[in-house]
Amino acid sequence: MSVPERNMALELVRATESAAMAAGRWMGRGDKNGADKAAVDAMRFMLNTVEMDGVVVIGEGEKDEAPMLFNGERLGTGSEPQVDIAVDPIDGTRLCALGRPNSVSVVAVGERGAFYDPKHIFYMNKLATGPTAADVIDITIPIEENIARVAKAKNKKPRDVTVVVLDRPRHEKLIAAIRSTGALIRLIPDGDVAGALMTCKEESGIDLLAGVGGSPEAVISAAALKCVGGNLQCMLWPRNEEEAERCGQVGQDLDAVLQLEDLVKGKNVFFAATGVTDGELLKGVRYEGRKIKTTSLVMRAKSGTIRYIEAIHSAEKLREISGVNYEG
Ligand code: FBP
Repeated sequence: MSVPERNMALELVRATESAAMAAGRWMGRGDKNGADKAAVDAMRFMLNTVEMDGVVVIGEGEKDEAPMLFNGERLGTGSEPQVDIAVDPIDGTRLCALGRPNSVSVVAVGERGAFYDPKHIFYMNKLATGPTAADVIDITIPIEENIARVAKAKNKKPRDVTVVVLDRPRHEKLIAAIRSTGALIRLIPDGDVAGALMTCKEESGIDLLAGVGGSPEAVISAAALKCVGGNLQCMLWPRNEEEAERCGQVGQDLDAVLQLEDLVKGKNVFFAATGVTDGELLKGVRYEGRKIKTTSLVMRAKSGTIRYIEAIHSAEKLREISGVNYEG
């Protein structure tokens, strides 16, 4: 019998748990940078203990100058395998700061060169769905048609389809178009990684994610959707003429559709997420005296295994061995 390859996601989850436990202490304090810094520090510390020679290719924070894991930063023990890291210590920092649902800590790892580099483009237009309708979506056709296709694939009426959309003025026309089909809309204040993943979880009632969100979040969501057999298509979305012009200069085609395989190459992809605040996807962190409880999602594209992990941590012991303070 061949020995199964190592599932790195089971090590990565210790990093998302750690970031979530550190960030969760900031829930509702109204300080998004404080929450982000706590998550970034804990995530960096734990990822450095993972046996890998990792390079951060999708770090988060540049968009709003928040604390971040830097692009190009090397993480891990430095030993084999050589991997690329896409990380967001908190997707939904504002959600955490305001105690709102669906703030999550996420990390994905792939082979060297696996992740798409959005370069200076901070936003992408996204269309995502779960496995049932994965083959029928097409970001180049109107949303009305996509809703009709998803409805057909799911054996329901367009009015029974629910689309999750970031609540932003830029989505006014998109929202009007969705409404014209009779489909339902879930407007979310932030957190489109959780939004994309919800399309894969039947109990969430979400069928599609549509609209413009962060580019780092697009690549991270693509890694997650690849593990579950969902689909995500994107197009670069420059904010102004200057960004659009630079695309031409660095060989980025604004008309190109980035398919799942363009965003995340290959099958050696690992993904871990831990809930910071409660949400449809994951429970948030619970602080119960000396114990801290976390709920995580751990996935690997090659095997297709999806694990939900509930963990009970000892804040005191963790502080002794790691120096990270989860006690607030
Ligand atoms: P942060 O946690 O980094 O603040 O990102 C939250 C988020 O809502 C993402 O989920 C989403 O992709 C992006 O911000 C949308 O950007 P913007 O808030 O600028 O519209």
